[in-house]
Amino acid sequence: MTTSTLDGQQLQAQLQELQATALKAIAEIETLDTLEQQRIHYLGKKGELSKILGTMGKLPAGDRPTIGTLANTLKETLQTALEQQRHKLQAAQIQAQLEAETLDVTMPGYFRPQGHIHPLNSTMDRILDIFVGLGYTVDDGPEMETDYYNFEALNTPADHPARDMQDTFYLPDGNLLRTHTSSVQIRHMELNDPPIRIVAPGRCYRRDNEDATHAAVFHQIEILAIDQGLTFTDLKGTVKAFLAELFGDVPIRFRASYFPFTEPSAEVDVQWKGRWLEVLGCGMVDPQVLKNVGYDPDLYTGFAAGFGVERFAMVLHQIDDIRRFYTSDLRFLNQF
Ligand code: DAH
Repeated sequence: MTTSTLDGQQLQAQLQELQATALKAIAEIETLDTLEQQRIHYLGKKGELSKILGTMGKLPAGDRPTIGTLANTLKETLQTALEQQRHKLQAAQIQAQLEAETLDVTMPGYFRPQGHIHPLNSTMDRILDIFVGLGYTVDDGPEMETDYYNFEALNTPADHPARDMQDTFYLPDGNLLRTHTSSVQIRHMELNDPPIRIVAPGRCYRRDNEDATHAAVFHQIEILAIDQGLTFTDLKGTVKAFLAELFGDVPIRFRASYFPFTEPSAEVDVQWKGRWLEVLGCGMVDPQVLKNVGYDPDLYTGFAAGFGVERFAMVLHQIDDIRRFYTSDLRFLNQF
């Protein structure tokens, strides 16, 4: 038998006090972790409520039902309070997350400036387009060339004075950076039989002193046509048709010239800033060049031409200095 050291009133007072402190504490909880700790603290197996209920045995039997009911009500009240606080904290957490991740669709986007085609590339594209329209196919060759393809096969042996005009950069193995796209003529003819109509764009190199119209690295477009019965008239007609297509009625002139790989040879000038600017070299392919690739010069004739892309771009856009193409100055490039 236990002796009653407690009466119902005392226990009731303890329960009421517990309710008051617990409700106050729960209302102040700020995180879900603390909420769980507090739940265990008040309602857990060894929690505050259990501690009080553990003393129930010491109550007079008549007080127990009242206190039991009271304890249950307290438990439910605290549980409800904890639940409400949990909802409040969860809602706040979601709200904070939403605010952090808000996507403002009215915000201006990031500006990415759109690039555009460099004037040299657009000029090359226009020239290629015209020749493709005339039935030519595009070919190309390496920028690092052998002496044979760049000079020798083009009828320019080592002691030929014309080499002086095309001094270039030599590599330790004897190869060189090609001085013109004419080397593509040889490479193409070696692998193909006539009839031939090719157009070959590419970068070229020369040990030139740079000035307003010369650069050490520049671009050319080569054309080559080989067939039976081609004459200088075909060459002239092709070049004229091409220039008229590109420039409209800008004045041009043919000038007799000399290249080791053509006979006869000519250069063509175009009006640029009040003076004549040489834009291309051309001629009838020298019979020796045809022999070098195994063609019969009695059966086939042909014409070739090499265009300076920079020069064409300068005439097209009235640009005063070739060096502007390479400095990447946006104030210049943005205009195209
Ligand atoms: N390769 C010459 C140069 O770079 C240009 C040239 C002249 C090309 C006459 C040709 C040609 O195909 O027939 O100066």
